[in-house]
Amino acid sequence: MKNILIKNIKGLAGILENNKNPLRGEALNNIDIIQDAFLAIENGLIVQYGKMSDLQGVEDWRNLEIIDAEGKYVMPAYCDSHTHIVFAKTREEEFVDRINGLTYEEIGKKGGGILNSANKLAEMSETDLFESAMTRLDLIKSMGTGAVEIKSGYGLSVEAELKILRVIKKLKQASDLTIKSTFLGAHAFPLEYKNNKDAYVDLVINEMLPKIKAENLADYIDVFCERNYFTPEQLDRILTAGVKAGLKPKIHVNQFSILGGVEIGVKHGAISVDHLEEFDENDTSVLKNSKTIATALPSCSFFLNIPYAPVKNMVKNNIAIALASDFNPGSTPSGNMQFVNALACIKMRLTPQQAFNATTINGSYAMELDQDLGSITVGKKANIIITKKIPSLDYIPYAFGENCVEKTILF
Ligand code: NIG
Ligand code: FE
Repeated sequence: MKNILIKNIKGLAGILENNKNPLRGEALNNIDIIQDAFLAIENGLIVQYGKMSDLQGVEDWRNLEIIDAEGKYVMPAYCDSHTHIVFAKTREEEFVDRINGLTYEEIGKKGGGILNSANKLAEMSETDLFESAMTRLDLIKSMGTGAVEIKSGYGLSVEAELKILRVIKKLKQASDLTIKSTFLGAHAFPLEYKNNKDAYVDLVINEMLPKIKAENLADYIDVFCERNYFTPEQLDRILTAGVKAGLKPKIHVNQFSILGGVEIGVKHGAISVDHLEEFDENDTSVLKNSKTIATALPSCSFFLNIPYAPVKNMVKNNIAIALASDFNPGSTPSGNMQFVNALACIKMRLTPQQAFNATTINGSYAMELDQDLGSITVGKKANIIITKKIPSLDYIPYAFGENCVEKTILF
């Protein structure tokens, strides 16, 4: 592996030494930046950084590639802790239906939505699914993402759920992005279980989970707890079984309604509870006294025209927050984490610093990758973004829609 010295960096951002927990409250307000800096990478790891005036010796290294980053920022690659990027087809027709007045829930009820994606996925080969997902990984890498969580959930049968999870396993091997895998068999009820929903829950628990465990196909377990989808009781059952199988929960809750799923997730030691567009005082008190990360998905709110999760209040209440893309064909056809930063600032009124931390270091915690990724730290992997020449770091969320990333370097 070659060694790299990046020099003349306008600002080396996201430096964090001795960090032990996700950033909360006031700690989110700060980004450590060294102006006019260098960063030294040996065997894929960050070994040294500092001011250019302190750079000594490194240039004598053998096998050294030198990158001049004059006018550019270097920062940790984004950690996108919630996506569904293994899918068969995009869903523009539902996008048009919504413009013409249907809601996301109405489309789902008439067999569109997640079931639409499941029908299409059933027909697609593992190879084609793998290739289309690889293309999406390349796309998000070009926009700065270095680590990503990917869910199943467009299978909804034993065979198809396993197919997706096997694709994710192959992506882990083939891609230079760091990937975590989540089993989301409980994403929607297939039509044939419409009048016997608990039988589908049984299928998830008794047929899917044991096979997934046997093949070691998932890191996490997810459930879409929502009216017309999975009830809090079903969530509880599935998480109990998932945890028993060694999978930690990362769940979909409070997207359209508050059913008590946050509390159930926390009870089962969820790494994160995601969506939270609807959020009440009970959710606040449950989360602020827990280790669970509240993950908001602003691009989903933007695309579906639904409320944004009240993250500013969560920060005030000392809840650990992360921001992720939710990249999927139905509610968020974008994995652009720079746009997530823009929306977090423009719509959720986070500062650029808070948004930066929520998409880098706290995103790494939401995938349990904090030992290796998410900050500029000696000993961590040098998975970084080199920006284009930009006037300031705040320019990234400000110039929404522009790709400010010149290069994402991953090991
Ligand atoms: O996170 N809300 C549930 N699941 C996805 C969307 C699924 C779809 O519409 O295909 C989400 O928004
Ligand atoms: Fe999602």
